Amino acid sequence: MRADIVIGMQWGDEGKGKVVDYIAPLYTSIVRFNGGPNAGHTVIADGRSFTFHHIPAGAFMRKKLLIAPGMLVNPEILNEEIESLKKVASEFYLKIDIRTSLITPAEVELDKKIEDLKGASSIGTTLRGIGPAYSSKALRISPRVSDVLSGNFDASIYKKLYNIEFDFGAWVQKAKKTLSGYAFDVREELLKSLENGEKVLFESAQGTLLDPIYGTYPYVTSSNTTSAYAFVSSGIPFKYAGKVIGVLKAYTTRVGKGPMPSEMPESLAKTVRESGKEYGATTGRPRRIGWLDLPALKYAKEINGIDEAFITKLDVLSGLNELKVAVTYAIDGKETDRFPSPEVLERAQPVYQSLEPIPKLGTDDISHIIKNGWISAPVQMKNYVDFIEENLRVKVSYVSLGAERERTVKVD
Ligand code: IMP
Ligand code: MG
Repeated sequence: MRADIVIGMQWGDEGKGKVVDYIAPLYTSIVRFNGGPNAGHTVIADGRSFTFHHIPAGAFMRKKLLIAPGMLVNPEILNEEIESLKKVASEFYLKIDIRTSLITPAEVELDKKIEDLKGASSIGTTLRGIGPAYSSKALRISPRVSDVLSGNFDASIYKKLYNIEFDFGAWVQKAKKTLSGYAFDVREELLKSLENGEKVLFESAQGTLLDPIYGTYPYVTSSNTTSAYAFVSSGIPFKYAGKVIGVLKAYTTRVGKGPMPSEMPESLAKTVRESGKEYGATTGRPRRIGWLDLPALKYAKEINGIDEAFITKLDVLSGLNELKVAVTYAIDGKETDRFPSPEVLERAQPVYQSLEPIPKLGTDDISHIIKNGWISAPVQMKNYVDFIEENLRVKVSYVSLGAERERTVKVD
């Protein structure tokens, strides 16, 4: 009877996949509701590792996996994803809403073309056709799942408008083969499930600061990444809203261009990137690295209505010689803890507070903490989490100390 939402509080790659897998046992269904195959949600559990692009990360927990219509699906990538998942998960229940818009090869090509045209001011997209496909949907020319199934797709407009020569007939046939076994009225199923007292988890992709309205426009993605979109996308009324779980990485990362006030100098970023394996799960690109950014997190908390937080990758900060948090920004000589509009953010200078560095944690140390609980964590680590709780005024419920499912500690 309640729909909780997992939200990324930064620029994506906060570790939402791990969090969704970890809390999945509490829910009947897991629903992806935004983005498309630009996402890469990695789950490492039971000796298996899988990066999800469209399919919700609850797959290993044998949950109902649902794709809401406000998402985008690229049938070719989805087909590969389904085939790969079959190799590691024997059975899974997957349904895709019939209203879901599809990404065609025209949009993938257009994404590249627009990035090339923009040149120095390119966004650094994942080149998965996301922006153009949400545009085609707004233009009311792109096919939805139901159009492919009924053969009701007229590609002539595409050919003229996007100036693309492509065998759309063959594409539609292939897409139909992939989608026909999964197409469903997801909205109706979800509503019934909630009416029957079941619990639902919405899994967002990307992060709050990549939201096309509230993020660092134009360096953003093209679907909403904030909690309210879960309801718009799935057609579920707000009255079913449960809690909003914010996922925040212990430091900041960003792929692609755009302002990032707390970005570290490359010499230090390199160390964190290597130990945190900060390379894009979808594109393999090295991620930009920064210290935790409190004004940005406060903003994300406000927009999403974050009820509790899950801090990931805290182990990665252990062993660094320094530990800093951007607590405010200095903008044109004034200090503020408000997150400004993107063009102002470009000028924001982070004001840091230094905390006592966390001593290096080896595998044995982490196992010790997992076994003996949060109380046994190093005092510097507990101080860091307390500092975040106090400044953000959000309860931190769990801390993640490694990619594997087991490496999770409840914060008491
Ligand atoms: P697009 O979503 O491919 O159009 O990319 C727009 C911006 O969002 C770029 O900066 C991408 O790097 C970023 N982005 C898109 N998806 C993700 C994601 O899943 N994780 C992190 N960044 C992303
Ligand atoms: Mg990712």
